[in-house]
Amino acid sequence: MTKPAPLTAHPARRLSGGVSVPGDKSISHRALMLGALAIGETIVDGLLEGEDVMRTARALRALGAEIAREDAGGPGGRWRVRGVGVGGLAEPATTLDLGNAGTGARLLMGMVASQPITCQFTGDQSLCARPMGRIARPLEEMGARIIARAGCRLPLAVIGAAEPLPIAYRLPVPSAQIKSAVLLAGLNAPGETRVIEPRPTRDHSERMLRHFGAEIGVETLADGGRRITLAGEPELEARAVAVPGDPSSAAFPVVAGLIAPGSEITLRGVGVNPLRAGLFETLAEMGADIAFENRREQSGEPVADITIRAGALEGVEVPAARAPSMIDEYPILAVAAACARGETVMRGLGELRVKESDRLAAIVAGLRAAGVEAAAEGDDLRISGHAGPPPGGGMVESRLDHRIAMAFLVLGLGAKAPVTVDDSRPIATSFPGFVDLFRELGARLD
Ligand code: S3P
Repeated sequence: MTKPAPLTAHPARRLSGGVSVPGDKSISHRALMLGALAIGETIVDGLLEGEDVMRTARALRALGAEIAREDAGGPGGRWRVRGVGVGGLAEPATTLDLGNAGTGARLLMGMVASQPITCQFTGDQSLCARPMGRIARPLEEMGARIIARAGCRLPLAVIGAAEPLPIAYRLPVPSAQIKSAVLLAGLNAPGETRVIEPRPTRDHSERMLRHFGAEIGVETLADGGRRITLAGEPELEARAVAVPGDPSSAAFPVVAGLIAPGSEITLRGVGVNPLRAGLFETLAEMGADIAFENRREQSGEPVADITIRAGALEGVEVPAARAPSMIDEYPILAVAAACARGETVMRGLGELRVKESDRLAAIVAGLRAAGVEAAAEGDDLRISGHAGPPPGGGMVESRLDHRIAMAFLVLGLGAKAPVTVDDSRPIATSFPGFVDLFRELGARLD
């Protein structure tokens, strides 16, 4: 491992310009996975070339798919995937090391669980601390065996089922990763696999399965939940995928532009899937000036250009029901809340404790280090806004968590004094080019 790389963000005056953020991480993982299960050659444009997705690519190669970047060295991220067909994965000769990538590890566990192969999974210190029992349980119901240490953490082995069973599974927590693992396992099971989600979570798997030719039905239930039904053993056909910009990455320049006085920023080609749009909804309630233009569809996903202008923000109460649609955006929302007038309360954040770090604790510690009053009360987070720039000036621990690192650098751009994060290396997992993009907008990061 290289040495920690501290990074300092200095208070910014006016950020301006038009930029594109890297491809969506969730969609990039799925494009490679479905490409690997399809017959023929899938071309993926705009693939996120962050460490997480590169780990998934490496694991899929070990499982038999051919994956290569086309115009090596050039811009754009065009990748070719030659798939093995549903049911055609090979037993890997090495342990699959997913690094920091929770989505990579969990979805791949699903993919291999219904194939007669044994795979070992590991990851970095953060991933090895995250719960995998939530994935193991439904996969065991389908006939796979999972061998793990106490608490069901990585490293673990999945012994895939030779005769997988389709199941109907009700998600115990709203999680697109659990849903997707079950659906991916269901691809190689006969009959119908069903997932019932009490609250809708991001539906990139459903959209992409349909894009690759799978038969998938989605019903909205009377209680607001959803039932997803997948017909097993489809023949997936190779497809072209154009990956939209990641709204979870766009969130950082969006909030930076709102809190750095005089800013105006346009982000081109950002994914605006309604099940990912909770942050935009919340910022609009806070009084943010956000405009969506040029709405279009790209490989089955809605996309738009987003323009934001700096202005005063008001504290709000964010309901627990909104959490699934902005689950990765609480660190950056906390930064907006620190600059807003009055108090912001975010409810129902229990799932934040099992992300790349305990994000509830990381947000509170980071805000306090930067002179902002914040407290976790059970699963709720309460932040006292400064009605403008908060003090800043502290050193924030990034805790192997890319979004914690990026959020607190943005806080430095909107604070009175610079903010330093102790280690900026995790940013490369999801947002390569973060520093260059912010410099292009006029920020000082060093
Ligand atoms: C993801 C789902 C979410 C999210 C993660 C990506 C996905 O996790 O936090 O960054 O691509 O399915 P959960 O399913 O654990 O909520």
